[in-house]
Amino acid sequence: MRPRSPIDRWGDDCMRILIAGGDGFCGWPTVLYFSERGHEVAIADNMIRRQWDVELGTQSLTPIVPVEQRVDAWQEVSGRKVKLYVGDMTDYNFVEHIFKDFQPEAVIHYAEQRSAPYSMINREHAVFTQTNNVVGTLNVLYAMKENAPECHLIKLGTMGEYGTPNIDVEEGYIRIQHKGREDVLPYPKQPGSFYHLSKVHDSHNIMFACKTWGTRATDLNQGVVYGWWTEETQRDARLYNRIDYDGVFGTALNRFCIQAAVGHDLTVYGQGGQTRGFLNILDTMQCVELAALNPADKGEFRVFNQFTEEFSILNLAQRVQRVAADMELATNIVHLPNPRVEKEQHYFHAENTNLLDLGMQPNYLTDDVIRSLIEAALRYKDRVDLNVIAPTAQWR
Ligand SMILES: NC(=O)c1ccc[n+]([C@@H]2O[C@H](COP(=O)([O-])OP(=O)(O)OC[C@H]3O[C@@H](n4cnc5c(N)ncnc54)[C@H](O)[C@@H]3O)[C@@H](O)[C@H]2O)c1
Repeated sequence: MRPRSPIDRWGDDCMRILIAGGDGFCGWPTVLYFSERGHEVAIADNMIRRQWDVELGTQSLTPIVPVEQRVDAWQEVSGRKVKLYVGDMTDYNFVEHIFKDFQPEAVIHYAEQRSAPYSMINREHAVFTQTNNVVGTLNVLYAMKENAPECHLIKLGTMGEYGTPNIDVEEGYIRIQHKGREDVLPYPKQPGSFYHLSKVHDSHNIMFACKTWGTRATDLNQGVVYGWWTEETQRDARLYNRIDYDGVFGTALNRFCIQAAVGHDLTVYGQGGQTRGFLNILDTMQCVELAALNPADKGEFRVFNQFTEEFSILNLAQRVQRVAADMELATNIVHLPNPRVEKEQHYFHAENTNLLDLGMQPNYLTDDVIRSLIEAALRYKDRVDLNVIAPTAQWR
């Protein structure tokens, strides 16, 4: 069967989509993206990400307005209404209420604590991360079972679930021959933090629900997301997306571009040979859309590796340094002692054909993209606090 492309869903064939974590970095642009394409969209969020900014003494590079104002602004700008449920996904009454009230046909579940360094600050942060993430996902699974057994769960996992094995990373499963017998089994997981472990626990729970209750689910093992603008979030200052640059929530590439804009050293942890999958936030939109339009079958636990290109951290820093130099911004690359426990030189190659087979058209990282990120960072450089950039959480 030909995969469904976005165009098939335009018009009157739209879905009710719940976006859990819809106030966050990936969630907010996803809300606008689906709403713009005519789907009925609801957000579930407790805004805890904004509280973590307060806890860490940092803020988004871009000014962001409260979620209620975001939703009102979107209605004013687009004429489209988005429903807002404010509450905690670890509270089952809250989650069940949404399912009864909104009756989603698909849930895009972003609502987790997503920083590895945050999860490694101390015991309390590790316990919080695993409780928040695992309980929230379990609640979604039970709410689906009890209230919406046909609903499709699109769950954001991470490529970090796999670690860095010395063989190619497959998409969720691997064919294994052992003592003369053969089976297709879940791909081995070697997560590198208590956060990444929470994602592995989620994956196991979802797989079990699919097998046991006939739940339909897609686990999107996402790489590191860069970029921040989408067509919709640029339409009005009240629709701007958040951008993290601090040592706890800031991710490589976005952080390097911001460091280049403010004249800060580009901080590479250790040798910088750590290789990871990366994708533009525009491709996050494409991937979740393709997953939603082509749902998993009943009882199917489908895994897609969601990234477009692989880069080493040092290679990214060097590219940012080169583009910054063309813009007459001088930057140094400094190698900091690695706060993490991870291989700094290793083999890494992961498969990512499932989404390409569904019709994904990747946005690649060009020098123009890096330039546009540095230019955008220059606009807000006065909001950057240089004191929050250094890594603080130590793995050991
Ligand atoms: N950003 C990346 O580079 C990246 C890479 C791989 C995977 N992911 C995954 O994608 C998802 C979204 O990431 P993001 O960068 O948008 O994170 P984010 O922190 O910006 O957004 C997460 C949102 O979920 C909300 N949330 C968290 N716990 C909640 C709870 N218990 N109840 C209600 N709301 C809650 C937060 O308030 C926030 O708005 C995460 O699950 C993350 O693990 C992100």
